[in-house]
Amino acid sequence: MISTPNNPISRARIRGWGIALPDDVITNADLQARLDTTDEWIVERTGIRERRKASASESTASLATEAATKAIKSAGLSPADIDLLIVATATPEQLIPHTGAHVGESLGLACGSFDLNAACAGFVYASVVGSALLNTGMSNVLVVGAETLSRIVDQHDRGTAVLFGDGAGAAVWSLGDPDYGLLSFDLGCDGSAADILQIPAGGSRLPTSAETVANNDHVVKMQGQEVFKRAVRAIGESAIATLANANTTIDAVDWFVPHQANIRIIETAANRIGIPMERVIVNIDKYGNTSTASIPLALFEAVESGQIKHGDSLLVAGFGAGMTWASALIRWGN
Ligand code: UT7
Repeated sequence: MISTPNNPISRARIRGWGIALPDDVITNADLQARLDTTDEWIVERTGIRERRKASASESTASLATEAATKAIKSAGLSPADIDLLIVATATPEQLIPHTGAHVGESLGLACGSFDLNAACAGFVYASVVGSALLNTGMSNVLVVGAETLSRIVDQHDRGTAVLFGDGAGAAVWSLGDPDYGLLSFDLGCDGSAADILQIPAGGSRLPTSAETVANNDHVVKMQGQEVFKRAVRAIGESAIATLANANTTIDAVDWFVPHQANIRIIETAANRIGIPMERVIVNIDKYGNTSTASIPLALFEAVESGQIKHGDSLLVAGFGAGMTWASALIRWGN
């Protein structure tokens, strides 16, 4: 557990942001028509009403590029001003090369890039890494969280097909006024739970073969209840650690911006942290679980709608396959 210096002369803050969503909306009624499920079950057990699905011409890199283009513009910068690109994703464009190669090429970047996979905690992980690199002389680090989960979910599995959606969010992190930006954070991973949310095949442990394809080993396999239990605990403990790292309490937080995985996880975690639902940003009903894109989608929609205002303190927290978790305290201002 490490926090940023308490009295820095400048601090990493989000200078520009952008989001991207496929146009194709998949409603619960669409799923009900082809799966053994109901709108009532999905809404009651998850809070999800709709999710987005990438078209055949869209991909993780194209969504990432769209969000990043908006972020660079909103920061008042041009691609030449970006010193590093980090793409957080669990659904890379391809295994080799990394997604950042495609995104950098589409954006016309001349800088270095790499991908970071911390599943649904990826955007917060990448933001912490990118912010730290600003202290090495970089001026602007572009962090993108992008997913096309529709490509790795078994569309016949009602336990996962109803949950996940596609989308992207991007932020340009730059140094600025020390009163705003990343105040503290907490990152973690418990690899003993690696098997409760996984894609078994396609990596070095179980390379793709006719057998892995026949066994349907290239799609998400999830032990939902176990993930649920651990998620609630991880978000709560990580959020409390982040508050302690900043020497503050939940009373000083204006908005809790959690990973949008399940409304019941969000409500239980908010209750444990001690923040009322009126101060929790929720958009899971519209987009489902978009993994690493979910926190930036929730955060930047709330900024754009005027819900989050200049000077507000934000507690963001995510968890995902690994099991990874990440939380951060951010004072909004740019
Ligand atoms: O980003 C991190 C990734 N994942 C998560 O955060 C997921 C965490 N887990 C969850 O959100 C929940 O565990 C789920 C939404 C996945 C499942 O909800 P649950 O309340 O834990 O349901 P359950 O797995 O205990 O299943 C209850 C029943 C079962 O039927 P039986 O055995 O009681 O007859 C399931 O087969 O609900 C059934 N079921 C469904 N029924 C209708 C499971 N999925 C569906 C469905 N429609 N889509």
